[in-house]
Amino acid sequence: MRRITVSAPGKVILHGEHAVVYGKKALAASLNLRTYMSVTKRGDNLINLHFPDIELKLSLPCGIDVSGNNTKNGDVTSPIPASDDVIETLKKLSGLDVDASQSQTLAVVSFLYVYTEISKASKSPLPGIDVGVQSELPIGAGLGSSASYSVCLAAALLQLGSHINESKFSSNTETDTLYQSSWTHNETELIKKWSYISEKIMHGNPSGVDNSVTTFGGAIEFRKGNITNLSQMPEIKILLVNTKVPRSTKTLVSNVRTKYDKYVDVIGPIMDAIDAVTTRSIDTYSNLLDNGHSSPSLYKDLGELIDINQGLLRTLGVSHSRLDRVCEVTAALGLHAKLTGAGGGGCAFCLITPGTPKADVKEVMSQLRAEGFECWKTNICGQGVIRHWTHSEHYNIPPGFLPE
Ligand code: PMV
Repeated sequence: MRRITVSAPGKVILHGEHAVVYGKKALAASLNLRTYMSVTKRGDNLINLHFPDIELKLSLPCGIDVSGNNTKNGDVTSPIPASDDVIETLKKLSGLDVDASQSQTLAVVSFLYVYTEISKASKSPLPGIDVGVQSELPIGAGLGSSASYSVCLAAALLQLGSHINESKFSSNTETDTLYQSSWTHNETELIKKWSYISEKIMHGNPSGVDNSVTTFGGAIEFRKGNITNLSQMPEIKILLVNTKVPRSTKTLVSNVRTKYDKYVDVIGPIMDAIDAVTTRSIDTYSNLLDNGHSSPSLYKDLGELIDINQGLLRTLGVSHSRLDRVCEVTAALGLHAKLTGAGGGGCAFCLITPGTPKADVKEVMSQLRAEGFECWKTNICGQGVIRHWTHSEHYNIPPGFLPE
């Protein structure tokens, strides 16, 4: 097959943002909004990148190599992160305009690094390819757009170099029609490892939450670098709301650090309280699953925990008037919302409990849209990285991405 089409989900932090920086636990889940990548073999030595979401169209030769990057020949299992020097050299070799945006530069540099390193670890160099990327996620809003890109990149190029071979098939109908496949656990671990190499180029020193949840899907508990996959998570419905207010995770994390250092006796207990909220919420989700998703009192608890968490984050100074407005609009109809990720803008999520009248959700969405917010109704715990074989109505594979 000439074309490889893969997709990976975005993520939402349900609880524990900021506190996780202080060794507390965080709860993150994958989304049902995905990034799609198609890689089509060419007959020549060109790499054509077409990423319309970030307005990038670029053609490069595929023989680019940089001394200093040193994934051992043949050892694909031990990828080496790019050094600052290699990143700088790749920026120069990328052929990008001087006025290229940060997201264009980082997407191209991480692509080139992963491509050249996987190529070196392959029996024969990777061929020339056309690469298309399209995402259902807003870019740079804290919903894991870069992690889902990195995971797609790792999966598609590892597959192109025959380092992984999809082996587990799932069909979406009662017929034998094959729509999608995934890889063995070890192969999926390899995808996660390589996606982290790309994430490091995009984010400097990421915690590993995003690319883990995006690779495996479902929900994870994250604490001090340790990741536990949570099988006890129901696929609940949420409303994602983008305030469209730009924010810098780095600045927000550093502002919280200043406050923490100054008032450690005050802020420390807030971090402990967020940790307790996360623990209670994990337990509640697990009880919900045991109760067949339909316990109004457990949903009530989840709503209260969301409100408490938002209040604590507000006290840390990481909310924003637009995020507070989302909470007001949703609360007027009895729904519960909190910021997700670094805050200071970016996104919020609102829990949609099973009994919520459709008209109320419609009303909230139209009110939020009228006030300039962007919103999507979606599920959490979407499937992790997969390879697509033919079109399935379950996925909105963009036109031109369908396997040939
Ligand atoms: O902005 P996001 O969605 O990448 O989330 C940042 C989460 C923080 O806890 C604030 C920082 C971190 O590194 O965990």
